[in-house]
Amino acid sequence: MRRSFALVRIPQHVAIIMDGNGRWAQRRGLPRAAGHRAGLKSVRMSIERCTAVGVKVLTIFAFSTENWRRPQSEVGLLMSLFLEALDAEIDELASKGVCIRFVGARSHLAPGLVARMSAAEERTRANSGLTLVIAMAYGGRRDIVEAAQRLAVAVRAGTIQPEQIDEVYFSEQLALRGLPDPDLLIRTGGDHRVSNFLLWNLAYTELWFTEQLWPDFSPDDFASAITAFAERQRRYGQTSAQVSDTAC
Ligand code: FPP
Repeated sequence: MRRSFALVRIPQHVAIIMDGNGRWAQRRGLPRAAGHRAGLKSVRMSIERCTAVGVKVLTIFAFSTENWRRPQSEVGLLMSLFLEALDAEIDELASKGVCIRFVGARSHLAPGLVARMSAAEERTRANSGLTLVIAMAYGGRRDIVEAAQRLAVAVRAGTIQPEQIDEVYFSEQLALRGLPDPDLLIRTGGDHRVSNFLLWNLAYTELWFTEQLWPDFSPDDFASAITAFAERQRRYGQTSAQVSDTAC
C-alpha cells in the first residue's frame, strides 16, 4: 500500500541506523556478507522514497567506529561492498541530482576507497536534490571530541574567545555542519538505542524503531515511519498548549 504524503508533515532530515543484516542472512543459512549485500536494496529504496516524498537530507550509518572490532574478514567484505556499491551507483545518484557527503574518520580506510569517496563528493557537490550523508567509520563521541579539539586550538591561537562558543558555534564544528539536525531517526533490527550515532544532533530528533531487519525494510515501513513522525507533537521543552497555540 503506497500512502499519499501530500498533506502530511514531512521530516526535512531523516537518519537511519540500518541494523539486522547479519540476522537476516543467518536466518537463511547464508553468510553475513549476503545480508549486507541484500541491505543495499533497502538503501536504494530509502533514497528513492526520500526523494519522492520531499525529504531534503538522508543520513545513513554505514560503518561505525565500533564496527572496526568485527572480525577482519567481515570488515574486509564490508569495505569491498562499499567500494563496489559506490562504483555501481554513482552514475545514477549523480544523474538524479543527489549530493553525496561522507562523514567519519577516513584515516583508517583504504586509500582507494577514500579516493572514490572524495571523487563522489566532488562530482555531486553542486547537485541540488537529496543530500545523502553516508556515515563511514563515524562515531558520535569522536565527532564531539574533535569539535572540542578544534575549538581549543582556535582559543589557544586567539582566533576566538571562549565566550563566543555557543551551541550554534559548536554545531558548526561537527560533521553535519551546515545541515539541519535530523527530524526523524529510524532504526531497524529491533534494538532501541542510538549506538553512538550523531549524539549531539539527535537531541530533539523523533525516534522510530522497527523489528524489521534492514534487508526487509520496505516502502510500507518507510511510509509508517513518516506517518508516525507526522503524528508526533514536537514540543522542544514547551507545553502541549503552547505548541498548539503556535501551530499553523
Ligand atoms: C548492521 O547490521 C549493518 C552494517 C554494519 C552495515 C550496513 C551496510 C549496508 C546496509 C551495506 C550497504 C551500505 C552502503 C552505504 C553502500 P548487522 O551486521 O549489525 O546485523 P545484525 O545486528 O543482525 O548482526
